[in-house]
Amino acid sequence: MSRREPIRPPPDGTWLRAVLDAMVEAVLVVDQGGRIALTNRALDALTSEDVRGKRAKNVIKNERLREAMRDARKKARATEVEIEASVRGRMRVFHASISPLPKRTGAVAVLHDVTPLKDADRMRRDFVANASHELRTPLTSIRGFAETLVDGALADVTTSTRFLDAILRQTKRLQRLAEDLALLARAESSEEALPSGILDLRASARHVITALEPFATERGVRLRLEAPTRAVRAEANGEAVEQVLTNLVENAIKHSKPRGHVVIAIQGVARRARLEVRDRGRGIAPEHHQRIFERFYRVDEGRTRGESTTAGTGLGLAIVKHLVERMHGTVTVTSTLGRGASFRVELSRPSLRA
Ligand SMILES: Nc1ncnc2c1ncn2[C@@H]1O[C@H](COP(=O)(O)OP(=O)(O)O)[C@@H](O)[C@H]1O
Ligand SMILES: [Mg+2]
Repeated sequence: MSRREPIRPPPDGTWLRAVLDAMVEAVLVVDQGGRIALTNRALDALTSEDVRGKRAKNVIKNERLREAMRDARKKARATEVEIEASVRGRMRVFHASISPLPKRTGAVAVLHDVTPLKDADRMRRDFVANASHELRTPLTSIRGFAETLVDGALADVTTSTRFLDAILRQTKRLQRLAEDLALLARAESSEEALPSGILDLRASARHVITALEPFATERGVRLRLEAPTRAVRAEANGEAVEQVLTNLVENAIKHSKPRGHVVIAIQGVARRARLEVRDRGRGIAPEHHQRIFERFYRVDEGRTRGESTTAGTGLGLAIVKHLVERMHGTVTVTSTLGRGASFRVELSRPSLRA
């Protein structure tokens, strides 16, 4: 029976080098005397200078890591520490495993950058805190009104009508929140594929205008479509495009003055299909332009939150951003305070057939 000989690593250490350099984790080896004997590519990327041959205690700025390396070297003690370090001006968090080398010949540290995990964890905690706050506010008010009714206010028809009305308003707000949270979860999930097809943006806009016409009329706002006579095709998901447009047009109506106009403009620009929603309402100050796309972010708390029937959830633009990005498009805002706002969405046009 013939058996193939296993391939042995070449004695020159080229394999070891390749393996170390292929690692995502940064590796640092110090010798018995505390000098840096070996580093890999990931570690070199963290330092601005070549640290090999230098004394570890002069190079490692983090005290806990320095001590852990010394203990591993001198007392053969293995440890795990979490350290924070500034890398090119940005704070990063590393999980470091420090182990002694055999026969007290030195120590090795393996550093794993856990900053993205930490960031995701913080975002998740912020989200839960925000969501529970948004739930608590209307619930507290519903409970307050209901208790007052039970305690006797029910006898007075005028008061009880007013209270029941308030309860209904807050219930609607909770319903909007539940709906928006579900939409956001779907928009953010990258697992569920967003199938794209070729659609005429004019048709999407017409659907949205028809659906929102009653809301606009109620607020004395006129909706106008500006589009070429020929189809403006985009490679996108029809449902997502209509959701995006609905959120933008709803915002434009909400922030318009009575007798205002909201324009939905559509055009093909080079390789992109462009959708624009413009209003002449109160506008958005520049310092909020980036933040309005964050979850739960609202500009004018006092005016938009609370009692109003159209008080938003602050999730609309976050949903817009996620959906647009999942269609490989972009969304931007331009606005002059007091003179209105314009939201522009760009999607790809179907590639021209040869
Ligand atoms: N067309 C607009 N004009 C003025 N402000 C706007 C407009 N669209 C959005 N905003 C601001 O951006 C914030 C976030 O919008 P959005 O995410 O849709 O949340 P919501 O509409 O639920 O408040 C709004 O609270 C509002 O302050
Ligand atoms: Mg909104």
